[in-house]
Amino acid sequence: MRALIATFCLPLLAACSNEAREPTVAGRWYTASQVEAGEPLFRQYCATCHGEDGSATPDWRRLDANGNYPPPPLNGSAHTWHHPLDVLDATIVQGGAPFGGQMPAFGSALDADDRLAIIAYLQHWWPDDIYGKWREIDERSR
Ligand code: HEC
Repeated sequence: MRALIATFCLPLLAACSNEAREPTVAGRWYTASQVEAGEPLFRQYCATCHGEDGSATPDWRRLDANGNYPPPPLNGSAHTWHHPLDVLDATIVQGGAPFGGQMPAFGSALDADDRLAIIAYLQHWWPDDIYGKWREIDERSR
């Protein structure tokens, strides 16, 4: 019986675990599950400043009354696509403090998978041409 289980079930298990590896969204580095996981995290941790739809304020280039930059849009309409993946990740970990900015640090609240899910979620807003430019910058940085 044990041999029978080994013969029939092990290959089946192997096949199942291969299938379980989810393909990425066409042309993107992330999977649909990462985007799905990122949505509630983005709403909880980021939306108050960057907007539920990532559009923040259109006037993101102008300093506010305190001499600080407002939260920029993350939906592909501003310049977030200039930053490679590791810089986006570091921004979430460290916030704006390293360059005198106002964004809080989330290094202790969000683990690496959470941060990647959030990045996947905000990049799902980016049109293909913006994503393509980001991809080149990201690849050059590696
Ligand atoms: C309290 C408000 C606030 C919250 C909450 C916040 N941010 Fe920010 N974010 C900012 C501000 C302000 C900036 C502009 C730089 C600075 O002052 O630190 C910024 C900048 C950024 C940038 C750089 C964008 C660019 O175009 O250079 C990224 C990426 C970013 N935030 C992602 C996030 C993510 C992801 C979250 C949630 C985990 C988040 N932010 C939560 C205020 C916030």
